[in-house]
Amino acid sequence: MIRIDKFLSQMQVATRSESKKLIKNKRITKNGVTVTDGGEKCDPDIDAICLDGVPIAYQEYHYVMLHKPTGCVTATEDRYDKTVMDFLPEKLRRGLSPVGRLDKDTEGLLLITDDGALNHQLLAPGKHVPKTYYARIDGIVTSADVVKFQSGLDIGEKKRTAPAILEILHAGETDSISEIKVTITEGKYHQVKRMFQSVGKKVVYLKRLSMGSLTLDETLAPGNWRALTKEEITNLKDEKA
Ligand code: URA
Repeated sequence: MIRIDKFLSQMQVATRSESKKLIKNKRITKNGVTVTDGGEKCDPDIDAICLDGVPIAYQEYHYVMLHKPTGCVTATEDRYDKTVMDFLPEKLRRGLSPVGRLDKDTEGLLLITDDGALNHQLLAPGKHVPKTYYARIDGIVTSADVVKFQSGLDIGEKKRTAPAILEILHAGETDSISEIKVTITEGKYHQVKRMFQSVGKKVVYLKRLSMGSLTLDETLAPGNWRALTKEEITNLKDEKA
């Protein structure tokens, strides 16, 4: 059982003080009866709590997929730069944080949630789920690079990188751009860029396509977001790292 005002803020319907107003204005009902006290308890699994007669669906956590555009930082706040949170409505932002990081100049799939257990499950050291990126590379990516990525690369850390799957989509010619897909299972700082640097090449465009079972919804333009479907949430939770 939780307090109705707490339930309303947990559901991101209103802040604690906005909830008071909604209750004062008789806009909240519990099982059809107008709620007059925010301290009244409810069981969200059993009681029908409505705002203006519309049921508020009980969801303990929130899960958002953002198509991160370039030019913003993966943080909940920043003094100088726009953050990924600025693309979400204010009501939704409270308590949410991004799962992992994309560089300011990287775009693509970013999961944002307040489910700390899932965040940990997806990112705990040694348990990273596979993440696939599309990239454009300045230079000619070769099958020798594919083998090197598979064997693990020295990117200046104590340990070599874990095996990564590099797929050449378009090999490029002298002085031109190659297109690749790469799947990594770690989350080291600037990892994809540093992996290409270690084979003498430069990433000029990077986009994350997937994280475990979660795939970027290509109908989302950069800067747009949507809630995850129930199926996407269940699949992510079932993810075997
Ligand atoms: N690797 C990078 O170099 N940058 C990212 O944003 C993500 C992976």
